[in-house]
Amino acid sequence: MTEIFHITLGITGGIAACKSAELCSMLVKNGFSVQVVMTENAARFVTPLTFQTLSRNPVITSLWDAADWKPEHVALAEKTQLFAVAPCTANFLGKFANGIADDALSTFAVTMRCPVLLAPAMNPAMWANPAVQDNVRKLRARDIHFTGPESGHVACGADGIGRMSEPERIYEAVLQLAGR
Ligand SMILES: Cc1cc2nc3c(=O)[nH]c(=O)nc-3n(C[C@H](O)[C@H](O)[C@H](O)COP(=O)(O)O)c2cc1C
Repeated sequence: MTEIFHITLGITGGIAACKSAELCSMLVKNGFSVQVVMTENAARFVTPLTFQTLSRNPVITSLWDAADWKPEHVALAEKTQLFAVAPCTANFLGKFANGIADDALSTFAVTMRCPVLLAPAMNPAMWANPAVQDNVRKLRARDIHFTGPESGHVACGADGIGRMSEPERIYEAVLQLAGR
């Protein structure tokens, strides 16, 4: 029997959060253990209940309601084997690139030691912004993995590079990083 592989799936505040429900479901159906961590803004797009049901695990949205003595971000970082953030906002990219830890997801991000996969999703003007591109370069230089963003039509009506990769594509990148 193959050992259970622990993935922490971060969800940030973009319209593509609804596509991550499919990704979460795909991971669970294929035997991964999935712990979802959502930003407060992500919860404006999809409810934690959706991800709780699909992941079969309570969703973490805050650092402050842990039941255990060990801070949740520390306990989670110890067991996570792959950290994936999909969708990944411009805001999260900026925080992660600069070591900012001001909510559950960004605090977790600076605590973990496993491989990281980011699936950015944003308006093409945001993706092209030099500050965002600087952050992407910084993260790539630290061996952070990316899938997408893809070129096409984004939800806000614009065309260009910014669409989140499809869940199947992110899933394939996860498999590769997980060595499955
Ligand atoms: C309708 C709507 C859609 C949004 N979509 C995105 C998006 O796709 N990508 C992005 O980077 N920001 C998007 N934003 C802006 C983010 O939600 C905002 O920057 C927020 O601070 C991100 O917080 P978080 O990274 O903590 O989730 C959107 C905002 C709104 C109101």
